Amino acid sequence: MQNKLGEVLAQAGVVPVLVIDSAKEALPLAQALVEGGLNVLEVTLRTEAALAAVEEIARHLPDAHVGTGTVMNPGDLRRSVDAGATFMVSPGTTEKLLDAAEDCPVPLLPGAATPSEVMRLYERGYEYQKFFPAQAAGGVPMLKSIGGPVPQVKFCPTGGITPANARDFLALPNVICVGGSWMASAALLKEKSWDEITRLAREAKALALP
Ligand code: 3PG
Repeated sequence: MQNKLGEVLAQAGVVPVLVIDSAKEALPLAQALVEGGLNVLEVTLRTEAALAAVEEIARHLPDAHVGTGTVMNPGDLRRSVDAGATFMVSPGTTEKLLDAAEDCPVPLLPGAATPSEVMRLYERGYEYQKFFPAQAAGGVPMLKSIGGPVPQVKFCPTGGITPANARDFLALPNVICVGGSWMASAALLKEKSWDEITRLAREAKALALP
């Protein structure tokens, strides 16, 4: 399961982190992002509409890989699988969450911010981890330092990633992709600025190209 997750993340480059207030927005938003070249989408479970949004995207947009974010507990894992998520992302981990994830048919990208957290997750088989909150937890220098003793673990840094710093993260050998919300901000969603979202997605994708 980790291999498949690695393939999806590697081709993603940049993963939009989405907060969707209305399931009606899900499809036009996802289409705008896919049009711009970003087809791995994380829908955070922070709104009532999130699971319905995942269902919509999973059902109607086979070109997209839709996952859930802000996964906090075993119930979130179950609901994500039922909604059709193809991966799940957590900001950090608990023993309960990790135990439940072991029985789950969909891969988890668990969050870590310190060497001990990274080591514990690697011990449980997690070769791919979310580095969160990336910028606040030490940014590029921190990830570079972790990569010294633990080069096996590849990260998706998220939290404080911008078009200005994304390339610096992506240049690290232990970064497989980055996540961020800038190309689908609340303001852009409120205005239904689908063309602008596509433009920002295209720019974001270019950041990840060699
Ligand atoms: C989040 O917590 O919403 C994600 O990590 C995205 O963070 P960002 O808004 O700083 O990109």
